[in-house]
Amino acid sequence: MIFARTTSVDQTKELAAALAELARAGDLLLLVGDLGAGKTAFTQGFGAALGIDDLITSPTFTLVNSYVGRLEMHHLDVYRLDGLAEFEDLGMAEMLDDGGVTVIEWGDAVAPALPADYLEIRVAFDEVAVALDPTGASDDVRVLELVPVGPRWAARIRAVATAVAPWIHEPEGDD
Ligand SMILES: Nc1ncnc2c1ncn2[C@@H]1O[C@H](COP(=O)(O)OP(=O)(O)OP(=O)(O)O)[C@@H](O)[C@H]1O
Ligand SMILES: [Mg+2]
Repeated sequence: MIFARTTSVDQTKELAAALAELARAGDLLLLVGDLGAGKTAFTQGFGAALGIDDLITSPTFTLVNSYVGRLEMHHLDVYRLDGLAEFEDLGMAEMLDDGGVTVIEWGDAVAPALPADYLEIRVAFDEVAVALDPTGASDDVRVLELVPVGPRWAARIRAVATAVAPWIHEPEGDD
């Protein structure tokens, strides 16, 4: 797995844009992280780099928005999903097979209903930095953990590391 650290929303968008350069038809990304972590911000940077000009907003109520770019991007937010049965009704297999890229916010919730072949991106606040820093400057720090699951992204892991090299950050003191 790869750890990266960003200090602004724009950096998170840039990191996502760098990853989008590696995107291929049929790719799946699961975004995991608390409310306000930056899952939608990531998707905005990712989509912009796919050549999507439309405003990318959270599809919390619609569950899925699809955009046309260099590749089509399906953007899902399953926070309000009412169980896996509802998810299965969305036609995931067709979505993954139609030549686009699929990005799912809160994707860990639906992982059991997905092929085990995706890049998981865990976005977290740097709670230690926030606690130690009374100035509030650390509020915009995010740690992104990139975990390839299955062969599609495992095969590209060096390219992923190169793409996010400007933000690579090994967490200290735990191994
Ligand atoms: N380093 C950073 N990376 C991403 N977002 C950041 C960063 N620093 C500050 N922010 C701010 O954090 C917020 C992230 O909001 P965003 O909607 O992307 O989160 P989310 O994970 O999609 O939340 P939700 O679970 O509600 O969908 C934005 O207001 C953004 O400006
Ligand atoms: Mg969101």
